[in-house]
Amino acid sequence: MPLFRKAPSDMPEVDFDHLPAHVAIIMDGNGRWAKRRGLPRTAGHAAGAETFRTIATYAKEIGLDYLTVYAFSTENWKRPAEEVSAIMGLLKKYLLEAIEKMERDRVKMEFFGDLSPLHPELRELCERTREISKRYEGCQVNICLNYGGRDEITRAVREIAAQWMQQGREPEEITEEDISRRLFSGGIPDPDLIIRPSGEVRTSNFLLWQSAYSEYYFTDVLWPDFSKEELLRAIADYQHRSRRYGGV
Ligand code: IPE
Ligand code: IPE
Ligand code: MG
Repeated sequence: MPLFRKAPSDMPEVDFDHLPAHVAIIMDGNGRWAKRRGLPRTAGHAAGAETFRTIATYAKEIGLDYLTVYAFSTENWKRPAEEVSAIMGLLKKYLLEAIEKMERDRVKMEFFGDLSPLHPELRELCERTREISKRYEGCQVNICLNYGGRDEITRAVREIAAQWMQQGREPEEITEEDISRRLFSGGIPDPDLIIRPSGEVRTSNFLLWQSAYSEYYFTDVLWPDFSKEELLRAIADYQHRSRRYGGV
């Protein structure tokens, strides 16, 4: 018998037959979580990696089609070198463990972002994870690493410009679809719901193009404290929204 049981009214009521197909999360608040405990920021990143593991497997369990998480932005290189290398070290550790447990968890993983500036060892781990994942079905987890929305759009525009010049095509021929499919997310639906924990109310360069009609959910909970229940709360809230896409 559990000593404490939450009142049913506290439990978010989710309609599991109509889940958002694509949920995205800005995994923010690791540093503050650590600071509140008198720990180094790195401890917050380690705790955040554990939360990610929990949420990624839960996303597959409940049947989301896509989960996209913001792990390291193109601007995060501005942080002290020790913090950046600690984050990279944790990513390496996480991927090594993930690869080991892949046959058990069978979570399909992809990476969004320019992986070329990463340490070759980390890059190789990303490639290996991506390769192994290809055989898995169900939820696809996209990890945004050295990802920036503006960087992503700039790359797409460059690619189009080069191709258009080569083919002598007119600028008027460029469509939204031409841009969409050249993004890291090319071919996958836009996020229905974007969650940002930690109390910050901004996008910080996350999925700028794809979020045109996403529903946002902000919570003060810090990422290491984010739980399955928090995810359900966000989804329940989303399910009460009316998405109009500019219509009536
Ligand atoms: C998010 O947590 C992790 C990364 C950006 C890599 P932060 O490190 O930004 O945590 P806060 O915002 O300082 O609390
Ligand atoms: C956004 O968080 C990036 C990630 C969570 C990876 P930041 O902590 O970098 O964002 P700002 O600096 O508060 O806008
Ligand atoms: Mg932050």
